[in-house]
Amino acid sequence: MNSIDLRSDTVTWPTSEMRQVMHQAEVGDDVYGEDPTANRLEELAAKRLGKEAALFVSSGTQANLIAILAHCGRGDEMIVGHLAHTFINEAAGTSALGGVSSYVIPTQLDGTLLLDDIRVAIRDPRDIHYPTTRQICLENTNGAMGGLPLSVQYTRSVGELCSEYGLNLHIDGARIWNAATALGCNVQTLAAPADSISFCLSKGLCAPAGSILCGPHDFIERGRRLRKMLGGGMRQIGILAAAGIIAIEKMTTRLQEDHDNARRLAEGLSDIPGIHLNLKQVQTNMVFFRLADSTAIDATQMTAALAREHNIRLDVRGPRSFRAVTHYWITPERVDITLAAIRQVLESI
Ligand SMILES: Cc1ncc(COP(=O)(O)O)c(C=O)c1O
Repeated sequence: MNSIDLRSDTVTWPTSEMRQVMHQAEVGDDVYGEDPTANRLEELAAKRLGKEAALFVSSGTQANLIAILAHCGRGDEMIVGHLAHTFINEAAGTSALGGVSSYVIPTQLDGTLLLDDIRVAIRDPRDIHYPTTRQICLENTNGAMGGLPLSVQYTRSVGELCSEYGLNLHIDGARIWNAATALGCNVQTLAAPADSISFCLSKGLCAPAGSILCGPHDFIERGRRLRKMLGGGMRQIGILAAAGIIAIEKMTTRLQEDHDNARRLAEGLSDIPGIHLNLKQVQTNMVFFRLADSTAIDATQMTAALAREHNIRLDVRGPRSFRAVTHYWITPERVDITLAAIRQVLESI
């Protein structure tokens, strides 16, 4: 990787071990259920997440879409945060393809949805004017709100609310292993209150593609049909699943390194005049920061200068704000190069 690419952990290349196992993977037709490597990956994922079954799908977006379509029918409603990936970044698939309505409530600064807001959003099932509330969707970690992990206690409290009202809880756990690492808990404990949970193999875990959806057997069987309907029935998919197995077995245990590098980056940034950030918000692999209002350049000009002069890439989040995401290919040395480059660009204006 020549450039220092901090736009997201989605930019990660597969490791050399992944490339090797992909080369040697045993394969079969997965639509017939005959790909031994995909089957092994699904068994492993279900076991690690503490769920009955799992489904290997093409992407995080597809995992969330399948989960929502499997839980909700046309005209049903899900409660979701206004900064949730499922609401803002998945092309409204749930409404376009599933006829599922979204009741949007504020995502709080810590990535949670207030229990009181959820209670208000749950519709009275006796009132024929309303859609039927069917599901609550949480995101852990929250990718648009600091990459903050949702605690076990909070997740349990939402699970209890779901049980009280007979709703399903789906967790978009694209980065659930980052959450578990940051909280120092087992991923199963975080997943336990959820009826279903998705996670991505292709972000901080470095697999080239693919996500996993976990839940009860009957839910996953409905999901398998929906995956086919969505054109996601892939054939000799063991080649990708092989990398997914390495992602779960090897890459989930090293995420603290990425979190340490994010902290290194955040602490360095906080020492640079003209940059503001909240160090308390840096808990996983994401650093959100912004330029002071007095700075003569804006975020787009700054990223252009960093790309042009230093081959460094940042994610622009607003007129003066950025997101930087650390991952396997971002070493402490690369963090220091980035800090020096940002300092240089700001000093040169
Ligand atoms: C929180 C979250 N959920 C879901 C997704 C979707 O994953 P994919 O890009 O694999 O569709 C992303 C992607 O960045 C994400 O950040």
